Amino acid sequence: MTSPAVPSLSGIQERIRSASTVLELDAIEQDLFGRKQGLLTVAMKELSQATPEERIAKGKSLNALKQECTTLLADRRRELSLSALGSLAQTDPLDVTLDLPKHDRGHLHLIPEFIRSVEEVFGRMGFGVAEGPEIEDEARQFDLLNFPREHAARDAQDIFYVDIDAPPDNRFLLRGHTSPVQIRYMQTHKPPLRIICPGKVYRKDADATHSPMFHQFEGLMIDRDTSLANMKAVMITAIRELISPNAEFRFRTGFFPFVEPGLEVDMRWQGDEGASREGKWMEIAGCGMVHPSVLKNCGIDPKKWQGFAFGFGVERMLMIKHQIPDLRSFFEGDLRFLRQF
Ligand code: PHE
Repeated sequence: MTSPAVPSLSGIQERIRSASTVLELDAIEQDLFGRKQGLLTVAMKELSQATPEERIAKGKSLNALKQECTTLLADRRRELSLSALGSLAQTDPLDVTLDLPKHDRGHLHLIPEFIRSVEEVFGRMGFGVAEGPEIEDEARQFDLLNFPREHAARDAQDIFYVDIDAPPDNRFLLRGHTSPVQIRYMQTHKPPLRIICPGKVYRKDADATHSPMFHQFEGLMIDRDTSLANMKAVMITAIRELISPNAEFRFRTGFFPFVEPGLEVDMRWQGDEGASREGKWMEIAGCGMVHPSVLKNCGIDPKKWQGFAFGFGVERMLMIKHQIPDLRSFFEGDLRFLRQF
């Protein structure tokens, strides 16, 4: 008895070698090895009806054919997939003019962005940038700045004291202003000095114009004959550049233990070019001539050196610039607010 399957398998090798797509190969593979109708599957099954001698002879050749077809299929499959990749490179080279999917571009938050421009504007007037830690000690936050021991500003109602081991008369705290950076800088540098010190400060305050964490930038200029007039000129020039040439200022006397005389500064801006919006006066800074005791505390001779210091509230200035009614908006992370700037 002869198996019908073997003759119809003739030429199968050629069919595999000349297949031009992977789909075609899949079809051939199905023709050969399909579970029910596969030519080789059927031929193998039919072996069971053959005589023992035939079974040995046919079995051998069928097995060899099966082996050969399997190898040929795998080889051709590899060839086809390689050439598919190759022709993809020909027909689809990278198109650099293609529009990319649109991504939202991020940007700096209003506050660090403003601080960068502060550094840039004061930088052009010869001021460097100094920084200090947010955890300070009482000495630099108060004593060396000439605060008497019983001064109300030390009250734990206003200041966050930090629970770190320290002598009882020099506890750690979250700095309540950037003025301790003046001390740090004067302790480590000799005059003439010209710096600004931006950073975060902390006070137990929370309402529409106060936040328990906010930003200030301090300014310090010490030289032989630096005057209050120089201070006003520096402050007004810089702020007009940062906010608007039409920003208006009001200097009032004010008291800070580390300056003498001391001043408080209000600002308002009613908009540019006749846009008359309701610019309300808002306190934005304290300033004054550095107190001789503070210079002495830092090893600087007040008979030879004098100068001014100022401290601005960043959020307050931005509220005026952008007409932001509530300071808490800066920190709520609401994208509808943040994306406007
Ligand atoms: N440190 C003061 C404050 O936070 C501001 C200030 C700075 C006043 C420098 C005078 C000189 O209120």
